[in-house]
Amino acid sequence: MSRIAYVNGDYVAHGRAAVHVEDRGYQFADGVYEVIAVRNGALIDGDGHMRRLQYSLDELEIAMPMSPRALAMVIAETIRRNRIQNGIVYLQITRGSSPRNHPFPDFTRPALVITARRAAFPTDAEGVAGGHVITIPDIRWSRCDIKTVSLLPAVLAKQQAVEADAYEAWMIDGDGYITEGSSTNAWIVDKHGRLVTRPKSHAILGGITRETVLRLAAENGIEVIERPFTLEEAVGAREAFLTSTTSFVKPITRIDEHAIANGEPGQITLRLLKLYIDYMKSCAA
Ligand code: PDD
Repeated sequence: MSRIAYVNGDYVAHGRAAVHVEDRGYQFADGVYEVIAVRNGALIDGDGHMRRLQYSLDELEIAMPMSPRALAMVIAETIRRNRIQNGIVYLQITRGSSPRNHPFPDFTRPALVITARRAAFPTDAEGVAGGHVITIPDIRWSRCDIKTVSLLPAVLAKQQAVEADAYEAWMIDGDGYITEGSSTNAWIVDKHGRLVTRPKSHAILGGITRETVLRLAAENGIEVIERPFTLEEAVGAREAFLTSTTSFVKPITRIDEHAIANGEPGQITLRLLKLYIDYMKSCAA
């Protein structure tokens, strides 16, 4: 089946979908994006993703190109035209195209692109493989809370992870604290069985999966402390894991050359993954 992309008002063949060469997303990374999971045709945490999209747009003073209701309809239509049951929607809004010049143009129409593709979902927490993370300095800017398409440090970080045969790279700030992964939020479980994750701030992206896992933990009597943690603490933790729209809840069993506990996915991590899988099933249409 041929894929279809939505580009500025038209549904076009994916292979021919294009934006202007002077689109400011292309020239300046002047735009924002969201990645949303689709399960059984329904968006997972669609409202949360739309809220964060609006936040990112507001922080950059880019106008939302259509009403939230219209946007929801276009997303649904893109999912329908691509016949996605389980998969991922990618949505990008840039400031639009204009002759190349750094300041915001006086008149420009924001450009909206939406694509969708199939992806598999875990159906069971048992048997899920643990992943290895490497650690690297966080070389990003001071507004990591905005989900911009300016992702070069994340690209370089993930490439380093790939070259080290690792699942992800966790980034460390100037004070020795882990900020987050290149495209995921970082968590550990301390010796008392409490979840520890960095609080929301300009230093990390406020993950939607992170929010949902915080809620699931609270609802299920799992204590959480939102505070920064160091690499040393992470290496000595009882468990470690990461979260994102595309990784769900992923056990981390090695950080650099150090095995976490016995080197197997932790019990609390697997419990959270199960809760998250059940939650996704409950969202499905
Ligand atoms: N990444 N931190 C960063 C830097 C991210 O880019 C992401 C998302 C997350 C997790 O956010 P969420 O739970 O809302 O997916 C944390 C997406 C999936 C991506 O760039 O593909």
